[in-house]
Amino acid sequence: MATSRRRVSFTILCPTMLLIISISMGPGQFIVGNEAENDIIWGASEEDSVQQFTWNVTYGSRSPLGTNQQVLLINGQFPGPEIDTVTNVNLLINVFNSLDEPLLFTWNGIWQRRTSWQDGVLGTNCPIPPGQNFTYFFQVKDQIGSYFYFPSTGFLKAAGGYGGLKIDNRIIIPLPYPVPDGDAYLLIGDWFNANHTDLQALLDQGGRLGSPDGVLINGKGPFGEFLTVDPGKTYRLRICNVGISTSLNFRIANHNLTVVETEGSHTKQNSYENLDIHVGQCYSVLVTCNQAPADYYMVASTRFTVPVLNGIGVIHYSNSGTKVSGPLPPGPTTEIGYSIDQFRTITWNLTANAARPNPQGSFHYGMINVTETAVVEGASTAIDGKQRYAVNSISYVNPDTPLKLADYFNIGGVFSLNFPRNPSGSAAFLGAFVLDTTYRGFLELVFQNDESIVQSWHIDGYAAFVVGADGGRWTSASRGEYNLLDAVARSTVQVYPQSWTAVMLELDNVGMWNLRSQIWDRQYLGEQLYFKVPNPDGSFRNEADIPPNALRCGKAIGH
Ligand SMILES: *[C@@H]1O[C@H](CO)[C@@H](O)[C@H](O)[C@H]1NC(C)=O
Ligand SMILES: *[C@@H]1O[C@H](CO)[C@@H](O)[C@H](O)[C@H]1NC(C)=O
Ligand SMILES: *[C@@H]1O[C@H](CO)[C@@H](O)[C@H](O)[C@H]1NC(C)=O
Ligand SMILES: *[C@@H]1O[C@H](CO)[C@@H](O)[C@H](O)[C@H]1NC(C)=O
Ligand SMILES: *[C@@H]1O[C@H](CO)[C@@H](O)[C@H](O)[C@H]1NC(C)=O
Ligand SMILES: *[C@@H]1O[C@H](CO)[C@@H](O)[C@H](O)[C@H]1NC(C)=O
Repeated sequence: MATSRRRVSFTILCPTMLLIISISMGPGQFIVGNEAENDIIWGASEEDSVQQFTWNVTYGSRSPLGTNQQVLLINGQFPGPEIDTVTNVNLLINVFNSLDEPLLFTWNGIWQRRTSWQDGVLGTNCPIPPGQNFTYFFQVKDQIGSYFYFPSTGFLKAAGGYGGLKIDNRIIIPLPYPVPDGDAYLLIGDWFNANHTDLQALLDQGGRLGSPDGVLINGKGPFGEFLTVDPGKTYRLRICNVGISTSLNFRIANHNLTVVETEGSHTKQNSYENLDIHVGQCYSVLVTCNQAPADYYMVASTRFTVPVLNGIGVIHYSNSGTKVSGPLPPGPTTEIGYSIDQFRTITWNLTANAARPNPQGSFHYGMINVTETAVVEGASTAIDGKQRYAVNSISYVNPDTPLKLADYFNIGGVFSLNFPRNPSGSAAFLGAFVLDTTYRGFLELVFQNDESIVQSWHIDGYAAFVVGADGGRWTSASRGEYNLLDAVARSTVQVYPQSWTAVMLELDNVGMWNLRSQIWDRQYLGEQLYFKVPNPDGSFRNEADIPPNALRCGKAIGH
C-alpha cells in the first residue's frame, strides 16, 4: 500500500492576505515562508472578496483497499481539493463535468443564505450535463467552522468526489481557545470495492447495499494516511464522516480529543478518548502531542456492525524513531447508551463568543415560542416489490424539473405543497411533496426512528438547535426533556434506534431546502423531502433572484 506523508499545515488568515506558514507534501520536504494567495481577488472590503476555483471532474482509477476501481477525481485529486476560506468570502466554483453522467455538488452545512439556487441538489438545480459546466457563486455568510462538499447526483458519492470546506474566522473574531499549531482535515468514511455504477444498479434493481468493504481516511486504506506532528504542539483536526451508510468511531492511541467545534458551533471543550461521528457530521478536535516520541495509530472504526471494520492511519511524532506496532486502541462498548451519553455532552460553550453573528435568531432559542411542528419518520418499505425508503409514507422521487425552478416559474404538476406534518402509518407511495412553512416561524422538527439502525438527518439551508433525544416515540410530553439552554446548532443530527431527536430552527432563510437522510442508499431510494420557506413579499432582500447562468431542464426549458 502506497504511503503518503503529510505535514499538518498551519494557515493564518488576515484580512488582506493569506499566509501559508508551512505545508509539506511527500516525505521529508516542506516549504516554509509567506505566500500571497494568487487566486483570491481581494475587493474593496473583505466582505466583497471572491475566491475562484475551476474544477475538472473526471473518472480515474484508484485502489484504496487494494481493488482497482473507478473513482471520481477533481483536477486529478482523490479526495477532491480542500476549500480553505474565510467568513463572508464569495466562492466562485466553475465545475466542468467530464463524466458520462449528470453531476451536481452540494455543500454540506453551508447555509446558502437567501440562495437555495446554489445548493446543488436535484430539487434546486438542473444537473450539469456531461461535457458541460456550471459556475456556483455563493457567499459563506456568517459561518465559521468545518464543512465538506460531495457530489449529490446518482450514486456518485460512492466514488469519492468529496473534500473539506473550511471556513476560518476573521481575526477580529477570536477563537475561544489558543490558536492551534496546525490544522488538518480527516475525511473518514466507509468504502465499497464495487464501483458507483454497480452499486447504483443494485439499488435500482431493488436490492440492498449490504456491508461496506472497509473504511478510508482521506481516501486512503490502512496505513495510507500518515500525519507528521511536532512534539509538544497542539493540532486541530477536522474530522468529517463523508461515507455512505456507516456511523464511525474515531480515536488516536494514547491521546485524548478535545472537541471544540461541530458544524459551526463552538462546543464546551470536553475531552474524549474516542468520538462517535455519524454519516455527514463534522467535528473539530484539538490534540496535544504530549506523549513519548513514537508513532501512534489513529483509527476510524465502524459502529454497531459485525464485523467491525477499521480505517487506520498514523500520527508520526517528528522526533520518533519507533514504527507503530501492537494492537489498535480499542473502540468503545457497542451499548447504544454510551453513544447517547456522549451525544448529550456535546453542548454549546455559552461563554465563548459566537462562531457567527447568529442569524438563527437568538442564543436564547429556548425562550422563543414554537409556531409550527413537524414530525418526520423515515422507514424502510417495499413498493412494487422493490426496496424503497419513505418519510411519513412518501418515498421521494426527483421530478425532471427541479422544485425550485417549478416554483419560480409557476410550472404546475411538478410537486404538491402538502407534505404531511405527522407520520400516518399508511402504506408508502412514490411522489414529490414539499413541506410548506411560514417565513420567520419557529419550527420544532422531530425525527422519529422506529428502526434498528442509527439514522442521520441533514437539513440544508440551516443549522438547527439539537434540543433533545430519547428512546421511544416522541409525544408532546417529550418537550419536558428539552435542553432549552445550551444546545449546539448543527446541520446533521443522528437519531438512535427506536428513538427520537428534536431540533428547533427559525425559518429565516427563504428558499426550497432539502431535508434528507445522510445514509446515501436511503436518500437515493426516497428518504428525503423538501421544505419551502416562502418569500413574504417577493423582494430580493429576502431571496436572491435566479442566477443568470441557471441551467434549465424538464419543464423549465424555454423559461
Ligand atoms: C478535463 O480533463 C480531461 C482529462 O484530463 C481532459 O481531457 C479535458 O480536456 C479536461 N477538461 C477541461 C475543461 O479542462
Ligand atoms: C464497474 O465494475 C464492473 C464490475 O463489477 C465492471 O464491469 C464495470 O466496467 C465497472 N465500471 C466502470 C465504469 O469502471
Ligand atoms: C462555463 O465556463 C465558462 C468559462 O469557461 C463561463 O464563462 C461560463 O459562465 C460557464 N457556464 C456556466 C453555466 O456557469
Ligand atoms: C484522557 O482522559 C481521561 C479521562 O477522560 C484520562 O483518564 C486520561 O488520563 C487522559 N489521557 C491522556 C493521554 O491525556
Ligand atoms: C468557553 O469559552 C471560553 C472562551 O470564551 C474559554 O475560556 C472556556 O475555557 C470555554 N469553556 C469550556 C468549558 O469549553
Ligand atoms: C410566548 O407565548 C407566551 C404565552 O402565549 C407569551 O406570554 C410570551 O410573551 C411569548 N413569548 C414570546 C417571546 O413571544
